[in-house]
Amino acid sequence: MEQDRSSQSRPPHVLVFPLPIQGHINSMIKLAELLAIAGFKLTFLNSHHNHERLVKFNNIAAHFERYSGFQFKTITDGLPLDHPRSGNWFLDMFEDTMEPKMKESLREVLVNSSPPVDCIIADGFLGFALDVAKELGIPIIFFRTSSPCCFWVYYSIPDIIQAGELPINGSEDMDRLITTVPGMETYLRCRDLPTFCRKLDIEDSIMKLVVKQTRKSLQADALILNTAEELDGPILSQIRTKCSRVYAVGPLHAQLNTRINAKHGESYDHFSNTLWEVDKSCMFWLNKQPNRSVIYVSFGSITSTSREQLVELWYGLLNSKTKFLLVVRPNSVIGKDGEGEDVVMELMEKSKDRGYIVNWAPQEAVLNHPAIGGFFTHNGWNSTLESVVAGVPMICWPQFADQHVNCRVVSEVWKIGLDMKDVCDSKIVEKMVNDVMVDRKEEFAKSASEIAKEEIKMVQWRPIHLKRSKAETRTRR
Ligand code: UDX
Repeated sequence: MEQDRSSQSRPPHVLVFPLPIQGHINSMIKLAELLAIAGFKLTFLNSHHNHERLVKFNNIAAHFERYSGFQFKTITDGLPLDHPRSGNWFLDMFEDTMEPKMKESLREVLVNSSPPVDCIIADGFLGFALDVAKELGIPIIFFRTSSPCCFWVYYSIPDIIQAGELPINGSEDMDRLITTVPGMETYLRCRDLPTFCRKLDIEDSIMKLVVKQTRKSLQADALILNTAEELDGPILSQIRTKCSRVYAVGPLHAQLNTRINAKHGESYDHFSNTLWEVDKSCMFWLNKQPNRSVIYVSFGSITSTSREQLVELWYGLLNSKTKFLLVVRPNSVIGKDGEGEDVVMELMEKSKDRGYIVNWAPQEAVLNHPAIGGFFTHNGWNSTLESVVAGVPMICWPQFADQHVNCRVVSEVWKIGLDMKDVCDSKIVEKMVNDVMVDRKEEFAKSASEIAKEEIKMVQWRPIHLKRSKAETRTRR
């Protein structure tokens, strides 16, 4: 990574501002650390709630004190501290409750910052950051934590509506191809669109919010995405028809690992940046399992499952020929009065010899453990990239947002997984687990390891350039 110091004597001061959700913090804190390694002065703007959890469950102070110019600042996310922040809270609360308070707090931090902030890198979902940046004359880059494919679908929604391909009427064949998203005409089906596109109402407020934020992302000085040209080249070319300054800087976790390993060696204890307490006991359990014999099952940081879904998944796993490591986050099973917790305890007891259940796993380490042969995932973009880089084939069970599109790309474009969207049936779970882990094991392992090799090669080769010319600096200020 290189920086242009010619225009000033102190290192440029970058403020990194993620959406207050685990999946967004994960990649943005990695981007921030990469910039700190390159010598930038860095302010990471976290929500009070998430920062409290980061401090509680991670060695954050010790980790970041090695970067003399790195600091954390915290602001409100607009919600009371005791709000559970679980389930479908986010999109419902965002515009009316969270956005106004976060906007005001961001402005305050920027106005009072010393040294002044030279550039903001804000989560692309925080469109209001562009208004604040313009008002204060600070250059701004948007960073989208979701996949480029999904970004492109979100961008194209007005065109899909205009072409009459949306709304999807209730009795419709969900396998119908959507033909108005350039570059995806041959594989994107109705069922691969984000779930809010399934509503009959094309004025749906969540759809409108997502389209608004996506189109606004292209008005920033630049857009950066957590991917690589080699992985998402064709879609990046499509996005560049709308905005010339689009940079692919990922996969960020691999970029960071490569640089840290080069500096400190492979045994270095990486910063986990998680908002839950990591249960490392599963690594000891994995150590006792044969190579590629275990399927890892985890659905990220915000997805919830119903009690019935969890039981169905569990029976499918149990009836398959494979051992499993299952993550069930606290409060993530929806059931009446503690029923969710009860079902987890019951499953744990019944599957002691076949599976291991934890509240939160050290996911990157798990995916890179030799005992892991497959990943049953919701296809959040971080999880998808982590699986790609680790060379682990996937069973895709997407729930919302970018996950449906990611699932289609994994199964149909990269061909490194199976698509289980819209289904939760123990028989199908069993069949898919057997396919990936037993019957078609070599086929999937080969395709996943080929893509992983490409990824690793390119992470080693490619420096990240973040340069701005003097002329650009002057015109923005
Ligand atoms: C959200 C959205 O759901 C996702 O679609 C979007 O792309 C990013 O924001 P999330 O659902 O949490 O994120 O999924 P994901 O992007 O996969 O991020 C989860 C992160 O938590 C991963 O980096 C994963 O390594 C980590 N994780 C998950 C753990 O460290 N331990 C666990 O047990 C589970």
